[in-house]
Amino acid sequence: MNFRIAPSILSADFARLGEEVRNVIAAGADWIHFDVMDNHYVPNLTVGPAVAQAIKPHCRRPDGTPVPLDVHLMVQPVDALALDFAKAGADIITFHPDASTHVDRTLQLIRGAGCQAGLVFNPAMSIDVLEWTLDKVDVVLLMSVNPGFGGQSFIDSTLRKAEQVRRLIDQERERSGRDIRLEIDGGIKVENIRRVADAGADTFVAGSAIFGKPDYRAVIDAMRAELEGARQ
Ligand code: DX5
Ligand code: ZN
Repeated sequence: MNFRIAPSILSADFARLGEEVRNVIAAGADWIHFDVMDNHYVPNLTVGPAVAQAIKPHCRRPDGTPVPLDVHLMVQPVDALALDFAKAGADIITFHPDASTHVDRTLQLIRGAGCQAGLVFNPAMSIDVLEWTLDKVDVVLLMSVNPGFGGQSFIDSTLRKAEQVRRLIDQERERSGRDIRLEIDGGIKVENIRRVADAGADTFVAGSAIFGKPDYRAVIDAMRAELEGARQ
């Protein structure tokens, strides 16, 4: 089973962030998804590198294995902050190509800083840029809501886009042997995760669906049960 569940701490209790991160990892989280908003690229303001650095020591399973810190940058410009988050302990850094003037340079910068790099596509954004960048990309993140807020409804056209990206990723694997993750972000719940997996996704961000419930493990277990019979 190659699926990953990435709880978004955007919906966690910010007053108890370290504890929330530890609890959701104990409940079975595979990655910690960290949403960075700048009130410029998106109409909301969240957290910066200092908070990433503060939660990094909590990103471990009880047995000590590290849990990847997946930083989703909704900021413009991208480059300087990407480097700050690399220094703060990010393992994966994704950014929106429309927020960077030189996408190829930003990808190289992130990888050069020792992180995995990813591109994020808004619901109405074309994925054409992947034709020229896929060889430098470790993660493709498709937004299934407009970025800026948790708790919005899943936009269905993301499924068709996921099918297209899955084909590109499979071709790239045949060409280079490299695995690229296909992550979906926004409106994912127990009720729709199976459909999203069937469209080709392997990594699922979920904020309100997990942190909005009292028992994180029950939600994550129910998501995994839904994924049992899925395609991959
Ligand atoms: C939205 C963020 C998401 C958000 C998802 O801009 O990128 O990661 O936290 O929240 P839910 O799962 O509640 O849609
Ligand atoms: Zn996100």
